[in-house]
Amino acid sequence: MTHEFVKGCHQPDIQISRFCPAIQQLMEEHLVLIPIMKQIYNRTESIQASELDTMRKEVEAFMDQLEKHSYKEEAYLFETLAKYVGSDSGPIAVMEYEHHTAKAYLNRFLFEIEDNEDAVQTLRSGVELLEEHFEKEEKVLFPMAEHLLNQEEKLMLEKHIL
Ligand SMILES: [Fe+2]
Ligand SMILES: [Fe+2]
Repeated sequence: MTHEFVKGCHQPDIQISRFCPAIQQLMEEHLVLIPIMKQIYNRTESIQASELDTMRKEVEAFMDQLEKHSYKEEAYLFETLAKYVGSDSGPIAVMEYEHHTAKAYLNRFLFEIEDNEDAVQTLRSGVELLEEHFEKEEKVLFPMAEHLLNQEEKLMLEKHIL
């Protein structure tokens, strides 16, 4: 099954320049991560046993980059936005749940890669979830943060995220 990567920052209606520098940085990180996700996803469509090791290394390298990105969101952006919208339920809780679930899929793939054919499907599920997650951040969460956070908070984010 072909999966079209057409969401997230690929949408021409999202103008990165209208966001504060910290959110612009997070969006630009999506632009770096999305092509890697696409490459990994496409590779799952015809994976050979001899390619598994390369695939593992690619996924591990991707997870390092994803971890740095999601940490900035959780520790700074979500933390600050939670003062306005709470974090027990609602958008922050959903975003954190999706970080956790996507990483769990990727970790499960790495754990199962040697001896389970379904491992590739687990990887695909993780990548699909992440793609939807990025789109939600760009269309809902980042605009919400841009609107609600004050200048002082945006400057604080800039120090930590840039
Ligand atoms: Fe995120
Ligand atoms: Fe993100």
